[in-house]
Amino acid sequence: MSQEILVTGGAGYIGSHTLRALVSAGFAPVCFDDLSTGFRSFAGAAPFCRGDLAAQRDLELAFAAHTFAAVVHFASHALVEESYRNPHKYYHDNILNALNLLQAMGRHGCRLLVFSSSCATYGIPPAVPMDESTPLRPVNPYGATKMFIERILADYEAAHGVRSVSLRYFNAAGAAHDGTIGELHRPETHLIPRLLDIALAQDGVAEIYGDDYPTADGTCIRDYIHVADLAAAHLAALEHLLAGGQSTALNLGSGRGHSVREVVAQVARTTGIRIPEVVKARRSGDPPALVADARKAGLVLSWRTRHSSLAEIVETAWNWHRNGRQDLQSAPS
Ligand code: UFG
Repeated sequence: MSQEILVTGGAGYIGSHTLRALVSAGFAPVCFDDLSTGFRSFAGAAPFCRGDLAAQRDLELAFAAHTFAAVVHFASHALVEESYRNPHKYYHDNILNALNLLQAMGRHGCRLLVFSSSCATYGIPPAVPMDESTPLRPVNPYGATKMFIERILADYEAAHGVRSVSLRYFNAAGAAHDGTIGELHRPETHLIPRLLDIALAQDGVAEIYGDDYPTADGTCIRDYIHVADLAAAHLAALEHLLAGGQSTALNLGSGRGHSVREVVAQVARTTGIRIPEVVKARRSGDPPALVADARKAGLVLSWRTRHSSLAEIVETAWNWHRNGRQDLQSAPS
């Protein structure tokens, strides 16, 4: 019989792509989501528990109805800017919800967890590309919550034998190749979907948050990784744990950096639409450059990126943006 896997935040962007990868690999994922930012349709035919991680009762219902071999934990607040304005929301919800989840896992003898962490745990790195030995010095509350949860996981392993893989993503981007699921946040703060909004409307101006960074063209450099590659890494991390592999933290990125202006140019090439630009003030807490050294993930998980060229990322995101995303927005909720 297929192993049941609890996926918190399975109706969200990265969670839903991972849910599909798990189904394709023969697992039986169960989606747990409060639909505060996710979409019910993203979970497809997977069993769905509408629940709040803050409520032990909701978790108990899910754990009582299934026998989970492992948990993949995505559900989290994930907006850097918001985390500055409302640190309580981030520290309170992200951390307490992870503790609730670990408590429920403990009650039901489930001791394997793949955790959705972030390169935001590093803060502003001394150099790029950065590997996992880079000191964790988060510069915003969001990144700090991810760092604290990684620490909590280490303590739970020592005390309760919970093994975990923390996946530190760089910039998740792109959409499913069949165009049925992709990125949709409200409000949208991420660079690529914001640029695609302008291309779709053939109206608006790309805001560049600072062009005086110490980079070749003065704009920030990020490592964009295709969401399908992230989903494959979650699957590989799960298989690593199920096979008895040790706990670890792994960077997930393509190893290539692209400046904001390079992304604007790629969006113009892919869409065939000229994107006018305006330079705005720097956004607080933006490191000049973040590029992953993801060799450890390659070694531990036998994983590599396959879809993370900027052209493929923008192509799939554009396809979703024009088609699937439009259908979702016009559908009744
Ligand atoms: N940017 C612009 N204009 C925009 C939007 C973004 O210039 O309209 C710039 C940002 O300043 C940044 C780059 O484009 O330099 C990418 O910005 P995103 O908002 O798309 O992504 P971030 O790099 O801010 O965020 C990502 C993840 C977070 C994670 C963070 C770590 O989405 O989860 O990296 O720094 F915390």
